[in-house]
Amino acid sequence: MIDKKLEELLKQSVTKTLQEKNVLNKYTQVKENKQVIKEAYVAQPTKFDLRTELLSEKTKTSHQELFEGYIKELNETSAQLDTADRENVNPNHSTFRSLKMDETHNHNAAFLHGLYFQNISDLNSEISADSLSFMRLERDFGSFDLWQEDFIACCLAARNGWAMTVYSMTLKRYINTVVDLHDEHVLISAYPVIVMDCWEHSYYKDYLKNRKAYVYGMMKELNWDVIEERFKVADKIGALIK
Ligand SMILES: [Fe+2]
Repeated sequence: MIDKKLEELLKQSVTKTLQEKNVLNKYTQVKENKQVIKEAYVAQPTKFDLRTELLSEKTKTSHQELFEGYIKELNETSAQLDTADRENVNPNHSTFRSLKMDETHNHNAAFLHGLYFQNISDLNSEISADSLSFMRLERDFGSFDLWQEDFIACCLAARNGWAMTVYSMTLKRYINTVVDLHDEHVLISAYPVIVMDCWEHSYYKDYLKNRKAYVYGMMKELNWDVIEERFKVADKIGALIK
């Protein structure tokens, strides 16, 4: 009983503070005497035109469709979260918990695919020794070849998942990392600069179980212009962190 009263007082106090700070109207609306959080976002899919001949048209088309499916699911999850019950929540079974898990899964799936499609399939792939990408990889891995060896090892170590070179805001350096599925073993404070899809759907139709051949092929066509822009952003982030 006392708990209920305290809970009610706390709610009133929070609501008052939000109203005073003019936050309530911006992010919430009252619906049937219940506040509804308006945080839904809508992500838009991009059509990627992969020119590589190292992947078949079948793989490219089905992969694009898969990517668009993840975005659709992400948008639906986000919309459902707006009205999800936030009172009857627990760590074992609740709609809110399930939606939050789905949000991370689909968010990562959608944006990792975008980053992957952007940084592969450059038929004129070339990295210059005076680029920021090259200099940072040499600085943090000892040499470009050592980065490459480590990155390929990550590609082969991932289950159905991802290999990435990321800027770690905590370590303040670039490192390679492995993510299983879309959301297992995700490093915190990591800004991705090079992303490789290692799920079987990305190569099995063309390479069967030979993931190594697929990875070597994609590595030959990395889009270093796109990657260079990501390194510039990552470096700026690094400069902002004390
Ligand atoms: Fe994929």
